Amino acid sequence: MNKNIASAFNPVAAARADARAPLPPAAVHPKSLLELPSGEARESLLAVHGILGAVLPPEKLAVYEAGGGSTSFLPLGVLERAHVTVVDIDKDQIRNNTYAHKTILGDIQSYRFAPETFDLVICYNVIEHLPDVEAALLGFCTSLKRGGLILIGAPNPQSLSGVVTRYSPHWFHVWFYRTMRGDKKAGLPGQAPFPTFFHPLVSLPRLEAFAQQHGLQVTYRREYESPRFPEMRARKPVLAALLDALAVAVNLFLPGKADARRGDYHVILRKR
Ligand SMILES: C[S@@+](CC[C@H](N)C(=O)[O-])C[C@H]1O[C@@H](n2cnc3c(N)ncnc32)[C@H](O)[C@@H]1O
Repeated sequence: MNKNIASAFNPVAAARADARAPLPPAAVHPKSLLELPSGEARESLLAVHGILGAVLPPEKLAVYEAGGGSTSFLPLGVLERAHVTVVDIDKDQIRNNTYAHKTILGDIQSYRFAPETFDLVICYNVIEHLPDVEAALLGFCTSLKRGGLILIGAPNPQSLSGVVTRYSPHWFHVWFYRTMRGDKKAGLPGQAPFPTFFHPLVSLPRLEAFAQQHGLQVTYRREYESPRFPEMRARKPVLAALLDALAVAVNLFLPGKADARRGDYHVILRKR
């Protein structure tokens, strides 16, 4: 029976039918996911959400967003039961944050919480900006409860976009964001892109080795095609075709099935 007809006869049945109806995407996913073009980045973030939903305890959660800025990558089901503490070095980013319960203007390389405070530490698009990634990671490990998770999202320094970002000046990054991505506010105070350092631990194999040495188990890892590629295919198809051709050529010289377009990664680490 059509749901509208059922509701006219039986309000209880209609309420049950409503409860089974799929929720609209905006009720389930954060804006950060909804804004991702379809492709590997979106797939990987959905997989991350699945793991967070399955592994984190079902009760109230203590979450530390290191370099949280103003965008959350958490699934809404987790965000709704989380007490979020954001530490960010940029006062404009702190001011723009709308979802944190506590904001701290500070440096994640030196800021320290009491041991075993958090169920989840997120550091998303941040470690590439740090001169001392090791200091930040050690702080995350200490602040994490046993069984707790660290989610890191970062660029892959060995990819095409990683190499270009590492070896090009900051003004070029601002130009790219403004011209290629159409972000007119890029480079203004509190707005991306932020200056990058690319400490050696940003490389995923080195980060995994560090994790093993410090009692962290790698629960999930995936390098994925940077969302800049599908974005550019839609906005600047000719340039995107040239970059795709360049990536195919570069791939011929890479070992195994490595793809120079895999510009970013997600890794989830679990404290033993
Ligand atoms: C590219 S933004 C990412 C923000 C947010 N996580 C996201 O993905 O939208 C990098 C953030 O790291 C912050 N940041 C950079 N270095 C930091 C440090 N040493 N301590 C704390 N925050 C830092 C910047 O202020 C900025 O908010």
